[in-house]
Amino acid sequence: MSMESAGESRAVEPRTAAVVPAAGRGVRLGPGAPKALRALNGTPMLVHAVRAMARARSVSLVVVVAPRDGVTEVRNLLDEHTLPDVVVVPGGETRQDSVRLGLAALPEDVEIVLVHDAARPLVPVDTVDAVARAVRDGAPAVVPALPVADTVKEVRPREGGAPEPVTGTPDRSLLRAVQTPQGFARAVLAEAHARVAREGEGATDDAGMVERTGHEVVVVPGHEEAFKVTRPLDLVLAEAVLARRRVTDGF
Ligand code: CTP
Ligand code: MG
Repeated sequence: MSMESAGESRAVEPRTAAVVPAAGRGVRLGPGAPKALRALNGTPMLVHAVRAMARARSVSLVVVVAPRDGVTEVRNLLDEHTLPDVVVVPGGETRQDSVRLGLAALPEDVEIVLVHDAARPLVPVDTVDAVARAVRDGAPAVVPALPVADTVKEVRPREGGAPEPVTGTPDRSLLRAVQTPQGFARAVLAEAHARVAREGEGATDDAGMVERTGHEVVVVPGHEEAFKVTRPLDLVLAEAVLARRRVTDGF
């Protein structure tokens, strides 16, 4: 944007960074190493996720938020897999805390931020670039999402497995299941995190926090391979996707 850099096409693009929260334990996956460090076909999930970010044309910097007791292990892992230009910082108690700590590690010149779950290791590069492009084109907040396959019910929750009364059925055609990377103008995401820190009211995703600040959030097409590895069966699916990729593109 400065006079000196006007001739370089790279420099006029707003600088885009990816923050990868990877500090969760993975309780729903069952006992074992922290989820992001669990292997898919021999390679840790986090390595797959960081590679997807690093390969995106739009991304010039990756910040990984590691388990507090796993910073050195993550650093070594990324070096072993020749992903050296990645900043590693320790995470927090909740995903939201971890994202905030990742944002705090960004250099000042970063104008666009993608937040991507380490638990979505197989997101296609084109999805990453499409989200970044939509932010560059002027959207303050962008979420990749897919139509919902199942009909969704609202219930009055009950303890102990007792049948739960249904209180409503939202119109499925209006629902979307959202994925990551979610992309933001940096100032918009920073404002949302500052507000949550002040008012204490969280959200289950970053876009949810931004919605509360009143900025518009838009949806772009997600991808079925951007699914989140949450439960043991998801590991089976992820390894099958990798096997299919190896057959179709020799990767
Ligand atoms: N995450 C994080 N810091 C936390 C909790 C979660 O960085 N304190 C990250 C996870 O590592 C993951 C992403 O947020 O990449 C999405 O969270 P989720 O899928 O819920 O992962 P976990 O919290 O690890 O899993 P679980 O909820 O089953 O324990
Ligand atoms: Mg969790």
